[in-house]
Amino acid sequence: MDYKNMFVEDLYDLLKSKIDKSMIRKMIEKPKYEEMGDLAFPCFELAKIYRDSPLNIAADLANKINTSNLYEKIEPVNGYVNVFLNKKEVSSGVVYEVISKKEDYGNLNIGKDGVVTIDFSSPNIAKPFSMGHLRSTVIGNALALIYEKCGFKPIRINHLGDWGTQFGKLIVSYRMWGDEQKVKKNPIKELLNLYIHFHEEAEQNESLNEEARQWFKNLENGNKEALELWKWFRDESVKEFSKIYELIGVQFDSSQGEAFYNDKMEKVVHLLEKKDLLQESEGAKVVQINNELPPCLIKKNDGTTLYATRDLAAAIYRQDTYQFVKSLYVVGNEQTLHFKQLFEVLEKMGYEWHEGLTHVPFGMILKDGKKMSTRKGKVVLLEQVLNEAIELATKNVMEKNPSLESKENVARQVGVGAVIFHDLKNYRLNDIEFSLEDMLRFEGETGPYVQYTHARASSILSKGNYQENNENINITDKEAWTIITSLMVFPDVIKRAFHGNDPSQVAKYLLELSKAFNKFYGSVRILDDYEKKQERLSLVHSVQIVLKEGLRLLGIEAPYKM
Ligand code: ARG
Repeated sequence: MDYKNMFVEDLYDLLKSKIDKSMIRKMIEKPKYEEMGDLAFPCFELAKIYRDSPLNIAADLANKINTSNLYEKIEPVNGYVNVFLNKKEVSSGVVYEVISKKEDYGNLNIGKDGVVTIDFSSPNIAKPFSMGHLRSTVIGNALALIYEKCGFKPIRINHLGDWGTQFGKLIVSYRMWGDEQKVKKNPIKELLNLYIHFHEEAEQNESLNEEARQWFKNLENGNKEALELWKWFRDESVKEFSKIYELIGVQFDSSQGEAFYNDKMEKVVHLLEKKDLLQESEGAKVVQINNELPPCLIKKNDGTTLYATRDLAAAIYRQDTYQFVKSLYVVGNEQTLHFKQLFEVLEKMGYEWHEGLTHVPFGMILKDGKKMSTRKGKVVLLEQVLNEAIELATKNVMEKNPSLESKENVARQVGVGAVIFHDLKNYRLNDIEFSLEDMLRFEGETGPYVQYTHARASSILSKGNYQENNENINITDKEAWTIITSLMVFPDVIKRAFHGNDPSQVAKYLLELSKAFNKFYGSVRILDDYEKKQERLSLVHSVQIVLKEGLRLLGIEAPYKM
């Protein structure tokens, strides 16, 4: 039952369709203080339409809305219509709904089974998996889950950076200074060394760059030696990346990276030519966009292709293959220009589906206020970071609950959950400061705090021998009301997360619900009163369900014990 919607309907009837329903819904707020009611409708905008004061309008509306058994009281306050819901009715209704729907509570049908392709993670092979790629991975994964909850079919695509001039450099470097055994033993580190070494040497010896260009050209032309080396570098890198994906529980539907489009680019270039969009510029081929954006480079003067060319081919391929209605690119904000150009070119090519394309940018991860760099010696190996998080989580879990079974698994869930939550609780465009200690605290705004609250709820249920029964739910505890209003808005939160491509909505919500629950837990002796036990446990069960589902939407597991 959507109580907010009932209020929307009532207002809509009274306003004689002067504002549409979705607008009314958007305007409804939660009053600042609980004493002021549960929903508030501001009348300031209406003042212009009705040429009357907000105070009068609010008074008039409040007067005309019929109090039903769901509204306890309706009150005009300072230009707002404040509604007090009937606590008992609504509490029981909300808990009933959560328990009967379980993890489907909050499911929306916005997507109508339409496909959304989500391009995320997309690290560059032969390089360490960076913090930026971690952000892309956790944000993209959460968005896939949130879109799925909204009725879309997500296709998760790992657009590996496995093509481009850097592979020419790597091949040259390996042929000159490489050692097979070393690469096999520690592929990413060794390939990075070779890459760095190439740049050092090329500073002395300019001809190396020419040679690298030649080798990339060989690669694009299918030269056997080049392809073999490339394939080997790629396989080794992918193996390393898989360890990380496995650790954090992320899977893809496709890992077709840039190389996959090698034989699909010529067609794109032809298309551009046919549509008269391609122009010569200093020997290179470009598409002029408009006055605000620089031209999009399609082919270099040596005939090799570029990142943008491959993205053009990829977008077209994805539309042909999946017929997406939406297509997201979860990539750092330093690539904003690239995506603007890409989308403009596709529009110029006349593809109507260009409207479904969205760049979902994000900020950086900082350490002591500086960008965490993967260059030179300062490599922060992600696997190492995750393992450290798990280690610290093990310590924390042991302190809290030394007799816990399957400690190892719980520690992994908590350590990884902490890293993911720390990222997702921040609005994605903000830069975030990296601190393992902060992430792993059991108190405060952390993943472990939410997980711990979930475990606490689960353990009360088992201690109280809870038997599910949603026949006679009847919640009367005053302290439960904050929890109820929080449970009630979960579907709205999901909708907002979807509209803003913003998982932080869900993360912040989980913190709020956890706080409300812990307050309840601190002030109500849940199991002591035999008569009230069942209704209280039903409430606890609803919290447990929503916390678990919320965490799942962020890609975080929820242990039952910790
Ligand atoms: N590999 C790229 C990088 O690390 C990100 C690729 C993003 N996806 C895309 N379709 N361009 O910068």
